[in-house]
Amino acid sequence: CGITGYIGHKQAYPIIINGLKRLEYRGYDSAGIILNENNSFKLKKTKGKVSDLEKICSNLNSTATVGMGHTRWATHGIPSDKNSHPHLSNNGKIAIVHNGIIENYDTIKKMLLSKGFTFQSETDTEVLVNLIQYIQDSQKLNISTAVRVALNEVIGAYAIAVIEVDQPQEMVVARLSSPLAIGIGDNEYFVASDASPFIEFTKEAVYLEDGEMATITLKGVDVHKIKDNKKVNPIIQELKISLEEIEKGGYDHFMLKEIHEQPKSIMDTMRGRLLVEKGIIQMAGIWDYQEKFLNAKRIIIISCGTSWHAGLIGEYLIEDLARIPVEVEYASEFRYRNPIITDEDIVIAISQSGETADTLAALKLAKEKGAFIYGICNVVDSSIARLTDAGSYTHAGPEIGVASTKAFTAQLAVLTMIAIKLAKHKGTISKEKFNSLLTELESIPVKVEQVIKDTEEQVKKIAELYVNVNNFLYLGRGYNYPVALEGALKLKEISYIHAEGYPAAEMKHGPIALIDENMPVVVIAPKTTHYDKIVSNIQEINSRKGKVIAIVTQEDSQVKNIVSQAIEIPAVSEYFVPILASVPLQLLAYDIAVMRGVNVDQPRNLAKSVTVE
Ligand code: G6P
Repeated sequence: CGITGYIGHKQAYPIIINGLKRLEYRGYDSAGIILNENNSFKLKKTKGKVSDLEKICSNLNSTATVGMGHTRWATHGIPSDKNSHPHLSNNGKIAIVHNGIIENYDTIKKMLLSKGFTFQSETDTEVLVNLIQYIQDSQKLNISTAVRVALNEVIGAYAIAVIEVDQPQEMVVARLSSPLAIGIGDNEYFVASDASPFIEFTKEAVYLEDGEMATITLKGVDVHKIKDNKKVNPIIQELKISLEEIEKGGYDHFMLKEIHEQPKSIMDTMRGRLLVEKGIIQMAGIWDYQEKFLNAKRIIIISCGTSWHAGLIGEYLIEDLARIPVEVEYASEFRYRNPIITDEDIVIAISQSGETADTLAALKLAKEKGAFIYGICNVVDSSIARLTDAGSYTHAGPEIGVASTKAFTAQLAVLTMIAIKLAKHKGTISKEKFNSLLTELESIPVKVEQVIKDTEEQVKKIAELYVNVNNFLYLGRGYNYPVALEGALKLKEISYIHAEGYPAAEMKHGPIALIDENMPVVVIAPKTTHYDKIVSNIQEINSRKGKVIAIVTQEDSQVKNIVSQAIEIPAVSEYFVPILASVPLQLLAYDIAVMRGVNVDQPRNLAKSVTVE
């Protein structure tokens, strides 16, 4: 979910609505807003998107200068008007917006029911706001203290903002495991799940740490610990993102813009690191802990979704080049399966947002067990980035489209640099090979640019042919097996077509049963290792009348002659094929989804940043 708030001297409504639009990537199944207009609340909320909220607010004419908004990704309770935030306490005096989960809500709810409280919704949030009222009433506390006492009763994860009807000059916010930023303006303050809602108003922000809360008034921000109320001196940070980076810039969708940004985002990720003339890869995070990496018994990569696919490719790269054993795990499985971790392990967490709840929890577990924690995050200063011992940011810039594209290829660029660097220091590749890999990696952004240019129109035509199918299979071997998984994930996320990725050789153990003349099969078939084997797999599909769409190397003629459609990518070493091959697969998913009329930037049921487990 995304939360936002404003307290100042400007009209709060447009600031909050615009802020919510920027936060919609965090969830968009319902939205709401509350304003404090001359000591009375104006509350509007609805199932649907922020644009639906705007419609029901068309007659609002509010001059309020204090308010909060919420865009929701449902956890407790289906998306509905009544489950939407903000929620009010029973006496109608306290309002809350919340991102996260209150795990012990049931116990608290029972206690409140026994005291005569009633509930309009099925949410855990309504339980929290009533707990605040109960504590305030029974202990005669001001709102800030009542929030603090209530939060000490709560088990779970949250970022909250609270306002009270009789205190229009005050907002109370708190965080535990869900991010919260406070923008510091001139006699005005902004609150949001990330800084994007307020970057045109101020470049200064305070990020609350876990277990901290803040009381915001027109006089300033007072930060203290939730546990013992100890005062904290907040660190004001300079924001680096610009408005331009988070706008569509002429493209129909953020996803398309982000696909097109890849030559630049990969270049930005390698800038200052890949120093071809000096013959080095400069990565402080690896360099400073060189001994650790070179002596590591194994590396465990943990992540979710697309980042997990990047991790799988990282496994191939690091094992192949640097000969260090690598395991790749879904963070959600790792954290609950009592894994064996020692202080000789290196755990690498990959996360675009740096906020994914499962990845964060898995990291905490690994840290407790003494592992060295390395982060590959895109969002600077995100929760995961802050928890790590060292790391390398991907410099892909803000990624807004729910389906990850440029963050993925930037993750691959970082993993490739790490693998090549470690290989050099371990002596597992020759100096000549190191130098040639460096030169080749440097050429990748230009090649990505070429792939976009050469394939964009062709992929659109291919998409037209398959727009109405119900199933897709994606196959690849070696480095391209995870590429197949990612290609399938992209398609299912945004087109709602069922798609499966498989290692090509495993096809005969199951998916082959599905192949008939209606089944399109995307095969990543570059002219690298396993080429002959993948050709055989294509023949097996052809014998069963499946339709093959192949990603092939430019000079290839063999595969081109036996498939329905061939999409060409430039010839590169196999280590770099995943970056190039992913691009047409992103375009294919995008085009099919657009033709099917899906909102590609906000596909149903998904969220970009999943801050609940
Ligand atoms: C969500 C997003 C995916 C993303 C995954 C992991 O499911 O929709 O695009 O790959 O979370 O996110 P992270 O921010 O940790 O990379």
